[in-house]
Amino acid sequence: MARIVRHDKNRPYVIEVGDQKVAICACGLSKKKPYCDGTHRITWDEPEGTLSAYDEQNIRRLVRLVDENGALVDIPSSYPLE
Ligand code: FES
Repeated sequence: MARIVRHDKNRPYVIEVGDQKVAICACGLSKKKPYCDGTHRITWDEPEGTLSAYDEQNIRRLVRLVDENGALVDIPSSYPLE
């Protein structure tokens, strides 16, 4: 089984634990979850209007949506969930 999980954030959540700050992964790509390992930086040049998918080695694959006429469709910022 597999699934696609959408992550829009490209930086970690930073929380305070006692007197320390801890970075929690919000991009979904960290290999040390729940902690941020800095991998989110590879998302910073994702092209506008595209949907990126990453494989197990964090290699980016662009996914382009097309309409019924084959024209590129912008990815909506809020994706409707059913
Ligand atoms: S937020 Fe995911 S690796 Fe930093």
